[in-house]
Amino acid sequence: MKKIVITGVTSGIGRALLLRLNQEGHHVIGVARSKEKLEALRPLLKTPFDLIQADLSQTKEVIKAAQKIQKEHDHIDVLINNAATVPGTLVVSEEGHEMQFQVNHLAVVTMTHQLLPILEKSNGLVITTSSDAHKPAKYRKNRIQRLKKYSLMGAYSETKLYNLLFTKAFNRIVDTNIFSCAVHPGLVNTDLGGKDTKGMMQKFWRFLAKRGITPEASTQTYVDLVEGTLNGHDYVSDRKPNKATKTAKNVAFQDHLWSYTNEQLNIKWKTKKA
Ligand SMILES: NC(=O)c1ccc[n+]([C@@H]2O[C@H](COP(=O)([O-])OP(=O)(O)OC[C@H]3O[C@@H](n4cnc5c(N)ncnc54)[C@H](OP(=O)(O)O)[C@@H]3O)[C@@H](O)[C@H]2O)c1
Repeated sequence: MKKIVITGVTSGIGRALLLRLNQEGHHVIGVARSKEKLEALRPLLKTPFDLIQADLSQTKEVIKAAQKIQKEHDHIDVLINNAATVPGTLVVSEEGHEMQFQVNHLAVVTMTHQLLPILEKSNGLVITTSSDAHKPAKYRKNRIQRLKKYSLMGAYSETKLYNLLFTKAFNRIVDTNIFSCAVHPGLVNTDLGGKDTKGMMQKFWRFLAKRGITPEASTQTYVDLVEGTLNGHDYVSDRKPNKATKTAKNVAFQDHLWSYTNEQLNIKWKTKKA
């Protein structure tokens, strides 16, 4: 039995992961923003499990959730950073960040940083749900967040690129026994792009999503990672290594995002000696 923290468990891939990993006998610790939706999951789960309410659009809530986990668990085997948001129009978080940047990237970094000590106790694994949607993204050092010219797909593509840049930078820079990897789950039939959009954009996402696999089918790659049968690759999809773009592999971009993010969050990591 492994102890597995999963964010964004109230719908889609995260929900399917929570239910499957719980069924397979793991101690799942689900994190999501909606108290009602979390309560609706409770009767579907067998003990042991934990459900934690946290709005990941606020760094203080991410930290509070992580501290609760640390207080109640002496170790964690796997952290799955899965939650994401795709608003149709520009939304600025309380901390002044573009909302996709806040939830899809900053919350991932904060949760990983916070849980590092208890992940290290079990040679843990960090899995972040990225996407092949990172492929069109360019890295612009002078415009990391789309606070001026917002585009839903532009911001989504970039934050999924940041998931990969962070994953790769983490493995290269942090002095730890933890391995970090990113997953492209495939096109999955969820309402990720429909719930916070309107009009044609909403119609398009929902049309596209219907062509995707079920959330349940998307869980197998994660299960392989949890079981240790897909080891040592930092980007995987469909149960095998996946290819990231040159932009995602660019060490200068990784380093730039690393510094920019740590500055925004005011965090420091234990780094490997040069
Ligand atoms: N669907 C695809 O085709 C696809 C493809 C590639 C990658 N992905 C990635 O897969 C991951 C899961 O997405 P999904 O498709 O399963 O979408 P989803 O059904 O919308 O799931 C997203 C989850 O994140 C939660 N969430 C959003 N904002 C949050 C916040 N501020 N605080 C806490 N939780 C929050 C949502 O909560 P609510 O239930 O309250 O909304 C939901 O539980 C994402 O990282 C996405 O980028 C999806």
